[in-house]
Amino acid sequence: MKTAVVGSGAWGTALAIRLCQNGHDVTMWTYETELIPEMNATHRNPRLPGAVLPETLEISGDYSCVSGCKLVVIASPSFPLRGVCRGVAPYLDEDAVVVSVTKGLEQGTHLRMSQVVAQETGKNVVVLTGPSHAEEVSINVPTGLLSASTDQTLAEFVQDAFMADTLRVYTSPDPVGAELGAALKNVIALCAGITDGLGFGDNTKAMLMTRGLTEMARLGVALGAHKETFTGLAGVGDLIVTCTSMHSRNRRAGILIGQGKSAQEAMKEVGAVVEGYYAAKSAYELGKAQGIDMPITEAAYRVLYENADVRDAVQALLSRQRKAEPEDAGWL
Ligand SMILES: NC(=O)c1ccc[n+]([C@@H]2O[C@H](COP(=O)([O-])OP(=O)(O)OC[C@H]3O[C@@H](n4cnc5c(N)ncnc54)[C@H](O)[C@@H]3O)[C@@H](O)[C@H]2O)c1
Repeated sequence: MKTAVVGSGAWGTALAIRLCQNGHDVTMWTYETELIPEMNATHRNPRLPGAVLPETLEISGDYSCVSGCKLVVIASPSFPLRGVCRGVAPYLDEDAVVVSVTKGLEQGTHLRMSQVVAQETGKNVVVLTGPSHAEEVSINVPTGLLSASTDQTLAEFVQDAFMADTLRVYTSPDPVGAELGAALKNVIALCAGITDGLGFGDNTKAMLMTRGLTEMARLGVALGAHKETFTGLAGVGDLIVTCTSMHSRNRRAGILIGQGKSAQEAMKEVGAVVEGYYAAKSAYELGKAQGIDMPITEAAYRVLYENADVRDAVQALLSRQRKAEPEDAGWL
């Protein structure tokens, strides 16, 4: 099947490799056109240095490369997503299935990524997400993903395209929960990194992840997500991988902040898109607008956007009013 992956960051590259290995005819669109000769010559992408690009992978800097494709995977970071979709939209075939794999919320509008893609392309966009570091998927480490769509046929089409011996793809009818899980867990992962940077232990991280999941789900359910999605791959699954792995740039940025760097310094040092930084602002504003109690997200917002001292933010969280857990976890 003729397919295109729009975006040549680590994740777009890993997915393009998987699609080539599954026998599809793949073109990867890149923003970094200056890298095309190097990628063609070395079969390596500096964005994912550990992976080998298949001989059959075509690389293009032209949006028209999506023309004639039956499957188009949008793998841009969140900040330029709308512009990228606007670029490809005129070239999409009428029957092309469009997939969004971007994790985040649009700044200002707080729209989910698939909503942005849908606005620009007019498609019923499938969400492909889950606990999946590009570094591992690209070398065939066994991984599980979620293909979420309100249209079961579309979800199964995407499942079929990606499914492999080492890649299990589950379908889900809940793109809202899948995307909110993916975006909001990055905020908790940043906080998990901060606790590591501060020198706290496993107990702290377990508390943070558990309480973080509660507030993610509370906001998600208020915004129309199915609560069950938060106990699956796109919720707790992605939360575990992002909060515990050194592949997670959100966690790595958090560690640097916990060690005393500013958010800007930390993101510069990580050198790749840190979606949790942007998601923290949207999540904070959405929580306020919905009247949802999100103490961890609020603490992250204060540290990232108001230069609050991390130790003061931790102290404020620890000295909150006493609670009873079952009452508080009413979303379950
Ligand atoms: N890396 C992963 O393991 C992983 C896994 C699942 C989902 N994701 C999500 O995929 C998305 C992309 O992440 P990534 O890890 O591939 O990114 P990355 O940090 O590896 O690369 C960023 C990419 O953005 C491109 N870019 C920069 N400025 C641009 C612009 N103005 N317009 C268009 N493109 C521009 C760069 O060329 C580069 O290819 C993110 O939302 C991320 O959360 C990543």
